[in-house]
Amino acid sequence: MSTLDLPDEWAIRRDQLRNKRPPQNLQPLFHLLHPKQFDRQFLDQMCDLTTDIRTLAKTQHGLARLQGLLSHKRAMLYFTQPSTRTFLSFNNACHILGIKTSEIRDSATSSEVKGETLEDSIRTFSSYVDVIIMRTLGKGLAEKSASLMDSISRPIPIINAGSGKDQHPTQALLDIYTLERSLAHRGGIDHKVIGMMGDLSRGRTARSLAYLMKNYQGVELVFIAPDRFTMEPDILDYLTRHNIRHSQTAELTRVISELDAIYVTRIQSEHDASDGSRDINLADYTVDLSNIDLMKEDAVIMHPLPRGAELSPGIDDDPRAKYWRQERNGMWMRAALLTRIFGAEDTLYEIAR
Ligand code: NCD
Repeated sequence: MSTLDLPDEWAIRRDQLRNKRPPQNLQPLFHLLHPKQFDRQFLDQMCDLTTDIRTLAKTQHGLARLQGLLSHKRAMLYFTQPSTRTFLSFNNACHILGIKTSEIRDSATSSEVKGETLEDSIRTFSSYVDVIIMRTLGKGLAEKSASLMDSISRPIPIINAGSGKDQHPTQALLDIYTLERSLAHRGGIDHKVIGMMGDLSRGRTARSLAYLMKNYQGVELVFIAPDRFTMEPDILDYLTRHNIRHSQTAELTRVISELDAIYVTRIQSEHDASDGSRDINLADYTVDLSNIDLMKEDAVIMHPLPRGAELSPGIDDDPRAKYWRQERNGMWMRAALLTRIFGAEDTLYEIAR
């Protein structure tokens, strides 16, 4: 593709990239376990790096060079809980950077069925690869694996790609990127009213995203959930401690017109089939053609996906619907994360010249 074929925005970015140097004050990143690790500077740097990688990948030449950036690295994708987007976006992020991948997607196919402990499995993976990206049904297993790595002579980074009902820090990063870009014409996330709706008690994506709001100025969070799925006290206490304004309601119609963005989530019944969700009128927690026009004209509608009835395909073509872009952003943000973890920014800006 020639520069002439590029949309203006990307052609301009590509020109800017030629003169760019990585920020001076980059803190090294090793394990990525919990959103509490991220401060505003890190989030801004990651958003910037994500856009730079996307810009480079827009041309055949740029992409070919990116594929050499980390071609000496290998990654293990250890996903013992179902995943489509997180798995595929990490896998493709690795391929964009030339990282070779191995995978286990079901503990029934690993030596865990023979009684091998998680620790021994993780240590074994670390013998073969340079980073472990892991999704688990249980909470705290990425932390446990990281502690194990810190105790051995050849530690490798651990990335938490979703830990039970608890946290999903890399999803929160791509959500921040999507929000920042979608709200860029209005000054970004600062001073916005952001709604989070659905199963907030078991939805790790909303929990992680809420956590990151401490990094933005004057944000107000509105939690919209049926009584039995309200946000857990640990997150509410955290928001109170950090002076982040937040409120809760069971009625979307009461708040829908005030929101600058809404983060819709599904009811997570796989955690407990007898969770009482059948008694809830899900229509009250849905964005569809009947209520989308109550939203601001430039509101941002997001969803981590997969969706259920809470997000109607009928609104997919509305310019406010950003969830397909959001899922694609995940691949670019994860490529940026791997670049940062392996400290490859200097080389990245060299190859962009
Ligand atoms: C989410 C997850 O797995 O937590 N999906 C994702 O990673 N994109 C949301 C969900 O499953 O509801």
